[in-house]
Amino acid sequence: MTLSFPLTQNPAPATDEAREAILANPGFGKTFTDHMVTATWTAGEGWHDGGVVPFGPLQLSPAAAVLHYAQEVFEGLKAYRHADGSVWCFRPEANAARMQRSCRRLALPELSTEDFIGSLKALVSADEAWVPAAGTGETSLYLRPFMFASEAFLGVRPANEVTYSVIASPAGAYFSGGLKPVNLWISTDYARAGDGGTGAAKCGGNYASSLAGQLEGNEHGCDQAVFLDSSTHTYIEELGGMNLFLVYQDGRIVTPEITGTILEGITRDSILGIATELGLTPEERRIPIQEWKDGAASGDIVEVFACGTAAVVTPVGELRWDGGSVNHRTSATDDKVAVAIRNQLLDVQYGRGEDKHGWMTRL
Ligand code: PLP
Ligand code: COI
Repeated sequence: MTLSFPLTQNPAPATDEAREAILANPGFGKTFTDHMVTATWTAGEGWHDGGVVPFGPLQLSPAAAVLHYAQEVFEGLKAYRHADGSVWCFRPEANAARMQRSCRRLALPELSTEDFIGSLKALVSADEAWVPAAGTGETSLYLRPFMFASEAFLGVRPANEVTYSVIASPAGAYFSGGLKPVNLWISTDYARAGDGGTGAAKCGGNYASSLAGQLEGNEHGCDQAVFLDSSTHTYIEELGGMNLFLVYQDGRIVTPEITGTILEGITRDSILGIATELGLTPEERRIPIQEWKDGAASGDIVEVFACGTAAVVTPVGELRWDGGSVNHRTSATDDKVAVAIRNQLLDVQYGRGEDKHGWMTRL
């Protein structure tokens, strides 16, 4: 049975002036729309009580299992306004499928693809005024579906009561400073995920475990940390919230293969899908960190970029580690491949380019 999401209007929505002021300069993840989705799952009963309700604090017992054992997953995708005023989402069925995989790993109940997309449609239809106008740069409405163990119970077992919610947040650039390259720190003290762990799931715990590495990076003047495989500390995995691509002089673009410890990014997969259209040769394999250091120093690696829904495609400037650094960028006009891929993706997402792969869904 499909879930329905009837609307309970927010009696005190943001004024038009307040909303427009936020949309003029949204930043990332700081402000939220007037409504949110909620639904409940109970063991034996399944999903019920779907709705779109006023955005506000959740009622949660201090004994809710998520607060103790982190039984939680989330997703991230964006709603884009096209020039004709319509609102679209990029590959939402891929986010639905990834959330189902994450749920299986975290022993949470799955939400069907139909209900997942239905919940996005219900929220965006209630808060359509919050989707930034077309032609306002790269602004969009970031959608954050999430699911957590809301049962008040301190025994360690999968919860019998689970809450699903979607909130929405107007989004500009993830990194303040626009398309400025980011500097990365190689984290050797910390790993993000290990074999058999939850690295491939989009669950809060992975982000909690990435923060110490990110802090260490910040202390060394870097924006983000690069995590290596936890068993040999040799191979590149990903950043705390983004996948990585290395661009070689001969036109290869290489990204770490999926090993079960990195997130299967939908942007990563889309880039692998469009690379040949841009005359590039995509490659997925294990990449020793030494290959990056050497390639950047010799000029064999001409660009590196990070990718993800929030950051789209963001060039990497310097790579630093304990005792050294390399910078493959020589001028601000570099990053030709990153910029070409970024524009190709954005053109599809904003309806300016042909959607050859059928990636867009109208909300
Ligand atoms: N890796 C991590 C750890 C992430 O959090 C994200 C962001 O969602 C990505 C990669 C990129 O995934 P996607 O392109 O699906 O947003
Ligand atoms: C995204 O890109 O959607 C993410 O979830 C990354 C980060 C904001 C956690």
